[in-house]
Amino acid sequence: MTPIAVLGNGRVGGNLAAALTRAGHEVTVADRAPGAAADAARRARIVINATPGAGSLERLVALREELRGKILVDVSNATTDGPDGLPADLIHPGSSLAERLQEALPETHVVKTLNTMLFPVMTAPDTLTQPPTAFLSGEDPQAKQTVRELLTDLGWHKEWITDLGGIRTARATEAAILFVPHVIRTTGFTPFAISIAR
Ligand SMILES: NC(=O)c1ccc[n+]([C@@H]2O[C@H](COP(=O)([O-])OP(=O)(O)OC[C@H]3O[C@@H](n4cnc5c(N)ncnc54)[C@H](OP(=O)(O)O)[C@@H]3O)[C@@H](O)[C@H]2O)c1
Repeated sequence: MTPIAVLGNGRVGGNLAAALTRAGHEVTVADRAPGAAADAARRARIVINATPGAGSLERLVALREELRGKILVDVSNATTDGPDGLPADLIHPGSSLAERLQEALPETHVVKTLNTMLFPVMTAPDTLTQPPTAFLSGEDPQAKQTVRELLTDLGWHKEWITDLGGIRTARATEAAILFVPHVIRTTGFTPFAISIAR
């Protein structure tokens, strides 16, 4: 049982928190109430960022002390929205939110994952017609191993998890958000994941 803080209680945060609790972890969910994120992060070993990507850098840097020595699992996408409310463009072109977080929080192990799928897939990967991919990006092998184990708890088969390498590889998975509005306009909100087929 790992103490986990989930920042954000929306579609992603709520879904991940429920599934991780079912898997036996001790999960605290922080909403936007003042101090909630700091309290939850202080008590956790793993902190999951499930808040909007646009303000994530500022919000997480404010938690520098609470995040020191912890694993920060970033599942967010930092985008500007189009007039239809769907993601339209990257906020960190030529870089990524994950890289910016790792630079700003050198004593925290940032691992990017699960940002390349609609939220129901994160906790039910075996419900798609083809095996999906969960990508991992991060500098610390031990932190990535811990996140792999969390993914396994969420139902991810080992062979569906692809470690792309260092945190710089997150710029590839974060750029995959550019597919999302077009896929949704074509096939609606049917769950899908951007995956590698072999
Ligand atoms: N939805 C997906 O399928 C999906 C898939 C992959 C990645 N993501 C990423 O996951 C993140 C969360 O997405 P979501 O769909 O769960 O969004 P959501 O349903 O809108 O939930 C966002 C959560 O963050 C909270 N929040 C918003 N602004 C905040 C602030 N300034 N301080 C603290 N908390 C704040 C919201 O609180 P309030 O309810 O009070 O506003 C809500 O609990 C985003 O970065 C998104 O890009 C989403």
